[in-house]
Amino acid sequence: MTLDRPWPYPQWIAHRGAGLSAPENTLKAIQMGVTMGFRMFECDVRLSKEGVPYLMHDDLLLRTTGQPHASNALTWPELQRLDAGSWHSSAFSDTPIPSLAQVMEFCTQSQPEALVNFEIKPNLGESASTGRAVANAVQAHWRAQTDRHRQDQPPEDHPLRTHPLLSSFDLKALSAAQDAAPELPRALLLAQADPNWIVNAQNLGCCAIVGHSSMWTKLRAHEALQAGLACVSYTVNEPEVAQQLMDWGIQSLITDRMDVFSRNSAHQPLNASGG
Ligand code: G3P
Ligand code: MG
Repeated sequence: MTLDRPWPYPQWIAHRGAGLSAPENTLKAIQMGVTMGFRMFECDVRLSKEGVPYLMHDDLLLRTTGQPHASNALTWPELQRLDAGSWHSSAFSDTPIPSLAQVMEFCTQSQPEALVNFEIKPNLGESASTGRAVANAVQAHWRAQTDRHRQDQPPEDHPLRTHPLLSSFDLKALSAAQDAAPELPRALLLAQADPNWIVNAQNLGCCAIVGHSSMWTKLRAHEALQAGLACVSYTVNEPEVAQQLMDWGIQSLITDRMDVFSRNSAHQPLNASGG
């Protein structure tokens, strides 16, 4: 079973902005991924105290910045001053946290332009506000970028014609994103099988399901594709698992292992259709 319309995203997506070889969810990680041949980056987005969307996986700042605060307790100017790199290694000390806007700007300027999957990760009680803020910010920056490049007439398959993909485990956040910017593509994230998965995705106008690798079976991939939903899997770090998922018709795989799946790796054939 294949999807009945083109899936505009690459086969390989770097997890947390390619964040094993460099500090996760930073521009340095994305830059490293670009250098290694990746063309799409999954990044986790939360809101600062005053509502600025920025990249952070955890609901606490402690693990990646050493600061004993909730991720929504500091303002964006305060967050910008934090060191989000030393926890990874001294080579990356003083790496700053990027905002969603900075990531979009950075990806547009990559050669070739990189695509983004923003995972909306609301803090407690902030589902709707985070979904809305992320969608509004992506839409505003997308419009500004495409206006700026309009006279360049990007070709049909140019990344500037491919919107960022918004995804979330949080149904309320996806619904708020849908209300704020219905034209932005959305994907429902699932950590495990859910009896309502197809209907939930359809009700939210999603184009894809992003499921944990253990959730996918041949039958589930078939069901999703039959419902017109693309299939994406996270986090795929083993070549054998990647091959199995691709055999089942999964369109894109989110990986931590840039070293294993990059263009120069021993598994280059797995990378044949891009990423
Ligand atoms: O978006 C897929 C994946 O990133 C979800 O898991 O915890 O790494 O954000 P997590
Ligand atoms: Mg994520």
